[in-house]
Amino acid sequence: MQEMDFENRIVSTEFTDADNDIESSLRPKQLTDYIGQEKAKENLEIYIKAARARAEALDHVLLYGPPGLGKTTLAGIIANEMGVNIRITSGPAIEKQGDLAALLTNLQEGDVLFIDEIHRLNRSVEEVLYPAMEDRALDIIIGKGPSARSIRLDLPNFTLVGATTRAGQLSAPLRDRFGVILRLELYTKNELASIVKRSAGILGIDIDEKGAAQIASRSRGTPRIANRLLKRSRDFAEVKFDGVITEEAASSALANMEIDELGLDAIDRRLLTTMIRNYNGGPVGLETIAAAIGEEAVTIEDVYEPYLMQIGFLGRTPRGRVVSPPAYKHLGIEIDGQQTLL
Ligand code: ADE
Repeated sequence: MQEMDFENRIVSTEFTDADNDIESSLRPKQLTDYIGQEKAKENLEIYIKAARARAEALDHVLLYGPPGLGKTTLAGIIANEMGVNIRITSGPAIEKQGDLAALLTNLQEGDVLFIDEIHRLNRSVEEVLYPAMEDRALDIIIGKGPSARSIRLDLPNFTLVGATTRAGQLSAPLRDRFGVILRLELYTKNELASIVKRSAGILGIDIDEKGAAQIASRSRGTPRIANRLLKRSRDFAEVKFDGVITEEAASSALANMEIDELGLDAIDRRLLTTMIRNYNGGPVGLETIAAAIGEEAVTIEDVYEPYLMQIGFLGRTPRGRVVSPPAYKHLGIEIDGQQTLL
């Protein structure tokens, strides 16, 4: 039986309408307000300064990393810092070559075109993108059959910002056309605590240091989750406590949401216990795990695994995934499969 589906997970990294409301108000607009991702930020700052000094459009940028880490936010910051407009779309939303042609011809000089989930562009659309990225040109075929001919339209200088969960999912010709490739990492607890405090300040939420630390350490390295848990913790703080998110209020809220001290929820625990009970802790193939817990393999790979690997609970080997000893300890299971009295 499925205990909880992916879409309804409070710790889902999937972007929801509720996130849209808060994320837009919480999104930093400038690089200096963007917390964490120091390496990506440092490089980006230099490229932006250089492009501005030369009065050129910024080179095309590919952002990759697990969902919920602020790729859209960074794209918005790039546009803002360059002083240009941003158009936001996604790979699956661009169905036909004509859809992309319409987007491209509506851009103004220097604009940012942000394509989320760019690995999901279909091949024929991707082919329109190559000359657009390389030569700022749009090749259009007019007519059919022997009289068909191709004409080339000039496009304004623009910056394509593409986002994907894994750069490896991108076709090589597309990946090669990005001048800047930045990998976003899961955030540290300290960075997440700073983000939680910043968000609380903007939303007028009362929170103390330990409350912020609690939320931070249970947010799986992901600001989107941290901001969501902040809102839910406020509800608990207001109804069951005196309105301030203290350590106690945050812990109580998170316990109610079945999120444990490490930020694992019921699905993470099911994934790990299934691997332990049914496959002796691995190595077990990704597809096998996916079938056993009723989730898609890509979801497991993009959403669950990055955090479980970061905290050292899961390893990847050539023969499949393995559960590490600290995960057994956390779940209260002996390595030989016996439940301890924890
Ligand atoms: N909100 C979400 N992500 C953020 C970040 N990296 N810095 C500041 N606020 C954020």
